[in-house]
Amino acid sequence: MSVEELVKEITSLKKERNAVLLSHNYQLPSVQDVADFLGDSYGLSKKAQEIDADVIVFCGVKFMAETAAILSPDKLVVIPDIYAGCPLAEMISVAKLRELKAAHPDAATVAYVNTNADVKAEVDVCCTSSNAIKVVESLDAEEIIFVPDKYLANYVSTQVDKKIIPWEGYCSTHVKILADDILREKKAHPKACVMVHPECRAEVIELADKVLSTGGMVENARDSSATEFIVGTEVGMIHRLKKDIPGKSFYPASELAVCPNMKRTTLDKVAWSLKELRNVVSIPEDIRLRARESIERMLEII
Ligand code: 13P
Repeated sequence: MSVEELVKEITSLKKERNAVLLSHNYQLPSVQDVADFLGDSYGLSKKAQEIDADVIVFCGVKFMAETAAILSPDKLVVIPDIYAGCPLAEMISVAKLRELKAAHPDAATVAYVNTNADVKAEVDVCCTSSNAIKVVESLDAEEIIFVPDKYLANYVSTQVDKKIIPWEGYCSTHVKILADDILREKKAHPKACVMVHPECRAEVIELADKVLSTGGMVENARDSSATEFIVGTEVGMIHRLKKDIPGKSFYPASELAVCPNMKRTTLDKVAWSLKELRNVVSIPEDIRLRARESIERMLEII
């Protein structure tokens, strides 16, 4: 089927199923273009909670679709590719987290939303890249266990007056962006504003003008007086920025920053998913209820 035919089929299946298509900013351009809502992890969680639909087709990675399923038990949440996982989320387990908590009994526990549901169920509160600092600041504890991303944990520790106990996880896509990439792009575009994601290495963050979630990058690029931007995150972001803000220029910090899991979702899989109502994302109810508390606490803070 051609792209036009697939888009037509998806549009008619969406109507038939009363479905809404949520897409993360790292999805393939063709998937972003067919989505009803496009956003970062925080924005998509909010949407999943608010929208009126029978079905959510989640174009992103599994932890994101799980978050939607945790927040919206009354809707059927499907993910077009069941193998669209997140290596970072797999870097911490409930058993390891329990060991860490036992070693720091006075610490509060924060899980980045890039975690599996059973880990979310074990923590005090979740956070995303857009609200990590505010979430940590809001906690009534001086020591904070922060899992699983060590770079985000380190960035947060530079912004708050609390002791952060990190976990040794990292995003295998963001670590591909190197300080040399930023220096090279700055040389090529000396007037550009450098925006990087907080999952980047500390030495990359040090070279940035702004450290932002993907949603924050869109807002900053729109509101800033700068007209050129070096973008230190997954390359899918460039499509989103160019489409939303056509008058400005966006340069990827590294063409190597491609998340293979985000790119697993294609238009034909979206159409299949809508037609067959698969792959259904479901969480055991006891885990879902505890994970929901951690996510809702975050949504109450910001
Ligand atoms: P955002 O929440 O900033 O979109 O980031 C999601 C993510 O998984 C980054 O790798």
